[in-house]
Amino acid sequence: MKTRMLDGLESSELGLGCMGMSEFYGERDDEESIRTIHRALELGVTLLDTADIYGVGRNEELVGRALQGRREQAIVATKFGNVRDEDGTFRGIDGSPEYVRRACEASLRRLGVDVIDLYQQHRVDPETPIEETVGAMYELIEEGKVRFIGLSEAQPEDLRRAAATAPIATLQTEYSLFERGVENGILDTCDELGIGFLAYAPLGRGLLTGRFRSESDFGDDDFRGGGRYPRLTGENFEHNLRLVEEVEAVAESRGATAAQVALAWLLTRRPWIVPIPGTKRVKYLEQNVAAAELQLTADELARLDALVPAGGSVPGERYGGGRVPTWVSPPLTA
Ligand SMILES: NC(=O)c1ccc[n+]([C@@H]2O[C@H](COP(=O)([O-])OP(=O)(O)OC[C@H]3O[C@@H](n4cnc5c(N)ncnc54)[C@H](OP(=O)(O)O)[C@@H]3O)[C@@H](O)[C@H]2O)c1
Repeated sequence: MKTRMLDGLESSELGLGCMGMSEFYGERDDEESIRTIHRALELGVTLLDTADIYGVGRNEELVGRALQGRREQAIVATKFGNVRDEDGTFRGIDGSPEYVRRACEASLRRLGVDVIDLYQQHRVDPETPIEETVGAMYELIEEGKVRFIGLSEAQPEDLRRAAATAPIATLQTEYSLFERGVENGILDTCDELGIGFLAYAPLGRGLLTGRFRSESDFGDDDFRGGGRYPRLTGENFEHNLRLVEEVEAVAESRGATAAQVALAWLLTRRPWIVPIPGTKRVKYLEQNVAAAELQLTADELARLDALVPAGGSVPGERYGGGRVPTWVSPPLTA
């Protein structure tokens, strides 16, 4: 697979999101998840994205298990800053320097690695000046515990202040055919500051794959079901499914899948964007990786661009009004 430069960090042009392997998207199957990570590395997908809160540490442990004997093939990207209790209860955001150091030690231990390749602040802490957080992250680079630092869901002003404090390799924020809010200045700021971009939820949290045809396709153990995720609920679900049908029409004419079209569209947006589609299954991983070979025509791109206006989003809040999902997955309580 080709690579892309994220500031000084060279990544495969598609990464792998590991979150759903441990929480939020239904049942866990650790063995299949580990096979998926191994297959990703075999196919040249280097960037593995996790976070300390996914499964309250379990996702980092899973990634660590998968990397035994394969550490050198991967770019390990994790995150800190959203604080949860052992039982999954969300406690808020902490970007204090003391917390940054403690969180990093805990992630290194769970991942079983000596160094984290990309350490990202999951959410900017409104109570801690970003200079203090990023300053503490930079000290981790100086100590050899982290190679590159990144932010997630940061606004242009945060990016400017952070980049004035230390080199910022990446910003990770939602970006897809459904969610184009980052086109309102955020991508331009990244361009100006030389910051790479990780596009999370590039498949619209799964809807853009065409696999989910009704709300009841999300089980009770899935945060997208039960009316918990406004974007995939009621009229919004129906509206967004119509858009998926347009993506499927483009896909069909190319003998591709809707997911491949959605990823191929993202890859055309800027040369320093790396989408990180999430899956816990080898078969989906293999399909998604093939998106890197799909060259969309100008007509197809225009058709896709027209689904949601530049800078716009499909109807429905991304987080039900909050900034993170605060629902606790049943697997954590099991
Ligand atoms: N920074 C943040 O705040 C933040 C927030 C959310 C996510 N993320 C990161 O971004 C990554 C990706 O986002 P996401 O997982 O939320 O959403 P996503 O990548 O848009 O969609 C994931 C969903 O799509 C399904 N899927 C993937 N490929 C498929 C295919 N080819 N055919 C059918 N279904 C397919 C997955 O199914 P299976 O699970 O059944 O394989 C899963 O249900 C996460 O894993 C996480 O690392 C970051």
